Amino acid sequence: MARRVLSAVRYLERGTSWARGTAPKKLLHSSASCGGGGEQLFVHRDSDWNNPDVPFEFTADNLRRVDTIVSNYPEAHKAAAVIPVLDLAQRQHGWLPISAMNKVAKLLGMAKMRVYEVATFYTMFNRSPVGRYHVQVCTTTPCMLCDSTGILDTIRSKLGIEVGETAKDGLFSLVEVECLGACVNAPMVQINDDYYEDLKSKDMEYILDELAAGRRPKPGPYSSRHAAEPITGLTTLTEPPKGPGFGVRADL
Ligand code: FES
Repeated sequence: MARRVLSAVRYLERGTSWARGTAPKKLLHSSASCGGGGEQLFVHRDSDWNNPDVPFEFTADNLRRVDTIVSNYPEAHKAAAVIPVLDLAQRQHGWLPISAMNKVAKLLGMAKMRVYEVATFYTMFNRSPVGRYHVQVCTTTPCMLCDSTGILDTIRSKLGIEVGETAKDGLFSLVEVECLGACVNAPMVQINDDYYEDLKSKDMEYILDELAAGRRPKPGPYSSRHAAEPITGLTTLTEPPKGPGFGVRADL
């Protein structure tokens, strides 16, 4: 525990020095820098390749998927489908251009601004192109206390990119995100749709090597545990339950 506290203190110190502009882009609670700079997370600037006049259409298959998603909601609440439909657009295109957001707004009968609000709030939406392997490192407190800083440093030095950047060959991009809901298996990293958990630096290096070689490393915990069971063994539910409803005699 003392080692973890020391690690947290070092992290805070580094965050402070970085905030003074003496180090890489990473800062405490710096998810706003993901995607290439704080402003970029919230502000759209038209470019040749990302403006409302660049056409975006769902494929016929995906239009059928949109219909299926929308049918899960009452007609008056079609807007509730905005996240899965945006996700579908991103999966089709590889990232989420503004013309795709506008298309989703039209399909769901929403004001464009309502769609922009969702797409800019969630870091799962990439409003600029990302690498083939999109590496998202959780650095929220539980992961930070389990040395997500070391994991992030390993990735930065191995790939030669900083948070918010994509490698020149387009293979990897690196962002820092808030809690991804796998705190019990901290520290963890999401790469595309896979979670890699209970990581040490050597595991992270192995995972990046495998991906670079075109193989898919095993997702899940890289410790001895199967899933999220206590790493030191069970501390509760170690004997047959005795409460109401349990242990009722079969012959009664
Ligand atoms: S804090 Fe990292 S997954 Fe929750």
